[in-house]
Amino acid sequence: MASPTTSSCLLFLLALLLPHAAVGVPRRHRFPPLQLAPVNASEPPTTFFEVDRPIRPPGGSAGPCSTLLLSDSFGYTYGQPPSAAAYAPPNCLAAARAGGGSVALAVLEWSADCRGLQFDRIFGVWLSGAELLRGCTAEPRPNGIHWSVSHDVTRYAALLSAPGEVAVYLGNIVDQTYTGVYHVNLTLHLYFASTPPPPQHADLILPVSRSLPLHDGQWFCIQSSADVQSKKLAVPSNTYRAVLEVFVSFHGSDEFWYTNPPNEYIEANNLSDFPGNGAFREIIVKVDEDVVGAVWPFTVIYTGGVNPLLWRPITGVGSFSLPTYDIDITPFLGKLLDGKKHAFSFGVTNALDVWYVDANLHLWLDHNSKKTTGGLVSYNAATSGPSVESEFSELDGQFVTTASRHVSATGWVESSHGKVMTTFYQRFSYKNSNVYSKNGVVQVVNQTIDATSGVSSTNGTTLLLSEEVHQVFPLYLFSGTSDEVGDEYSMVSVVKLGINEKRANSSLQNVQSARGSMRVKKNLVISGSGQNHQVYKYIGADGCYFRDVSSKDYTINFDHTDDSCLKRSRDVSSRFPSRLFGGSVDITAHVDI
Ligand SMILES: *[C@@H]1O[C@H](CO)[C@@H](O)[C@H](O)[C@H]1NC(C)=O
Ligand SMILES: *[C@@H]1O[C@H](CO)[C@@H](O)[C@H](O)[C@H]1NC(C)=O
Ligand SMILES: *[C@@H]1O[C@H](CO)[C@@H](O)[C@H](O)[C@H]1NC(C)=O
Ligand SMILES: *[C@@H]1O[C@H](CO)[C@@H](O)[C@H](O)[C@H]1NC(C)=O
Ligand SMILES: *[C@@H]1O[C@H](CO)[C@@H](O)[C@H](O)[C@H]1NC(C)=O
Ligand SMILES: *[C@@H]1O[C@H](CO)[C@@H](O)[C@H](O)[C@H]1NC(C)=O
Repeated sequence: MASPTTSSCLLFLLALLLPHAAVGVPRRHRFPPLQLAPVNASEPPTTFFEVDRPIRPPGGSAGPCSTLLLSDSFGYTYGQPPSAAAYAPPNCLAAARAGGGSVALAVLEWSADCRGLQFDRIFGVWLSGAELLRGCTAEPRPNGIHWSVSHDVTRYAALLSAPGEVAVYLGNIVDQTYTGVYHVNLTLHLYFASTPPPPQHADLILPVSRSLPLHDGQWFCIQSSADVQSKKLAVPSNTYRAVLEVFVSFHGSDEFWYTNPPNEYIEANNLSDFPGNGAFREIIVKVDEDVVGAVWPFTVIYTGGVNPLLWRPITGVGSFSLPTYDIDITPFLGKLLDGKKHAFSFGVTNALDVWYVDANLHLWLDHNSKKTTGGLVSYNAATSGPSVESEFSELDGQFVTTASRHVSATGWVESSHGKVMTTFYQRFSYKNSNVYSKNGVVQVVNQTIDATSGVSSTNGTTLLLSEEVHQVFPLYLFSGTSDEVGDEYSMVSVVKLGINEKRANSSLQNVQSARGSMRVKKNLVISGSGQNHQVYKYIGADGCYFRDVSSKDYTINFDHTDDSCLKRSRDVSSRFPSRLFGGSVDITAHVDI
């Protein structure tokens, strides 16, 4: 295993602070935290939030039984061991299980506050090495901020039932300028059913992450396209189903990978320290030599990204709780049931420093046999691209990148459940257009990732499982610099991004439109404004949730919520919300540079 030394894994944070030397060149999409107009420090703290549907306990369940797992302050924690606490299953959980009951719902609540000035930091929460939550912190204000995230962790019921260790890594640096210390409470809320555990949750969860002790998060750090990180694991020989849940976040030179131009453009214009490698990234997941699946990640924008004022107090989609990606590897079990260790590995196509990747291997065990058997029947992981149509002259140019991939594997597993044939498939397509104009000071990126993945299994007479999820991740980013005088310039930013997701019994449209302007001096934001409009619409067999919310400079303009399924015909555009832009979806017409 090519494990990096802990120090090389750490992101060189200060690089982000350096102003770009040249004048009239493309700008990066990150600025230090804002030291804007005086804020009355006696005002109550500002509450930040990510729009999401509430987690509803199943009907008839008892609870919650709440347990504080960890409470800590993250000051100078960068390059330090994670904060850790022993985990013991709460007494209420043992009592419920002894009475023949089970966990109906488990919710992990992250609650944090901070005061002063600080960067947005990435953090991870692990239980016994398995990652449960990855998020980005909100950037504080002098009067203080608070935010909380509730994350459904029911699928980790097996881990929650065993003693272990909770670890939280949040690498923060405190100095005279960046004074913000993050105070965090991590609480587990359990709800119980009086019936035995349902079969949809794994019996065993093996972490595919780095083990403690560490001076970093337990994630692997992938620093280049050649960097492959792996862990060897043996699966129990009575496994009959296996799903790999992958966590991904991107930082440093790849924080805005979807805006990176090709290297030819960088070389031709002598932008030597500008991040390149083009705009396509793909996480490749292998078991031994086989590509078992891929992740084409959602473009999470952290709270300090593009224009930090866009994300206050409504944070970017997925930023407080990053999406994860499931890859069903049941078709490959035949190769893994030999009791030996096998390598689970991750690489990122075109990666620049740094990607944090790890995974949890969810395993279902046959309680009626010591040994299951299996075999791979067919397998295909065809990929096409990325191909780039590139055209530029000095700093102006256009780059269109396209790519697609199709993964499909079918295999059987014989257990006390019979001989079950499982097919897992993924279909991806990607298109990115990146246009630089006005001598490189205006950049417009328009990207769409379209990802379908599904699994079905049959025992020959009955379809035992059939699930498909189709996700579309649209992204539009306009960034324009103007009025450059000495070491000062203005920047207008427009961002639209979202997750549109369809499953057999549910559909989600979750889109944001944000725009803002900033005056920047020596790479510090000296004035600015930002607004955000989000429409979230979920319709599912388990209920509905609708929210239409808009903010400008920390103030909520309007906030409409509806959780009845009756008004589902309410007029919600399946496209981007457009209220901010006078009803027009073509916002470019409204941006004067
Ligand atoms: C600051 O806020 C507090 C609490 O809202 C208020 O009592 C006080 O008058 C404010 N001070 C100024 C200078 O606005
Ligand atoms: C953490 O819990 C303590 C004790 O209940 C409370 O005083 C504190 O405000 C909490 N902090 C956060 C960030 O929720
Ligand atoms: C880039 O640098 C090389 C070598 O210093 C120089 O010859 C060339 O003119 C420069 N190109 C631009 C576009 O500045
Ligand atoms: C972005 O690309 C999509 C798909 O190619 C296209 O439908 C849409 O009009 C583009 N949006 C803008 C603002 O260019
Ligand atoms: C397939 O599974 C169904 C439902 O569990 C069962 O009724 C049927 O007998 C099974 N068929 C075979 C061939 O095992
Ligand atoms: C969808 O709902 C139907 C009817 O409630 C149910 O039979 C089916 O199992 C559900 N499918 C999934 C994938 O949850």
